[in-house]
Amino acid sequence: MLMNDYIIGNQVIKVQSVDSTNNYAAKLLNQTKVPFGSVIMAYYQTSGRGQRNSLWNSVNGNNLLISIILDLSSIPPEKIFYLSKLVALAIKSSVENITGIEVMLKWPNDILINKKKVAGVLIENQWKDKKIASSIVGIGLNVNQIDFSEIKSATSLKIVTSKNYELNVVLKLLCDKLNIYYKKLINLDYKTIDDEYHKCLINVNSWCDFRDNNKTFNALVKGVNEQGELILEFRNGSIKAYELKQITQLI
Ligand code: BTN
Repeated sequence: MLMNDYIIGNQVIKVQSVDSTNNYAAKLLNQTKVPFGSVIMAYYQTSGRGQRNSLWNSVNGNNLLISIILDLSSIPPEKIFYLSKLVALAIKSSVENITGIEVMLKWPNDILINKKKVAGVLIENQWKDKKIASSIVGIGLNVNQIDFSEIKSATSLKIVTSKNYELNVVLKLLCDKLNIYYKKLINLDYKTIDDEYHKCLINVNSWCDFRDNNKTFNALVKGVNEQGELILEFRNGSIKAYELKQITQLI
């Protein structure tokens, strides 16, 4: 890859401990001129954040905790969910390279091995005049942690391979993959990203259980639309799109 094409991870800022790398990245963006593509990596987060206001806890030094600062101003705002898709695909590709085990994606962008979560993504966009001025892509990838105590649905690279990994090596590979997929988005190659995403999306074309506020229901998973909504079909043939906050997929 040409040097010009290597944007993500050109600069890596490592910090021992921080509240959240996403917060740190947001502060950097506000206070300094930080180059796009910069990666913030922390060994420990005191208040790591997950999707839906959850916490993201991680044993000190065991896992990859990073945030990437990106410029997506050339992407129309309505296409921004492709960023989620490409990040999930890049993580999938690097984890498969490392472990040799198949990785699946769960809407919107959980990364699963054997139906357990090995990585999660939290993207936060900064808006300016109805345009996305910058995006912060937070990635938590479980690498060497083997005890997740209360979280039974978590796994790590070490759990599935019984090997330890150097965080720097995992980071380098992940950045390589992110650069490849990021380039597809910058080239507006939405179709490739979308096709690949749907190929490894868990439960596509299967009947699954979901929960919304107060009830559990069964529906056929059709796919994920451009807005990042999950498209479900019901027994009576009706079709509905759901936002992330509306439902939970029970697998
Ligand atoms: C999820 O709930 O699946 C998303 C988890 C995202 C965690 C990462 S760890 C690095 C970055 N900093 C944070 O506070 N969160 C993200």
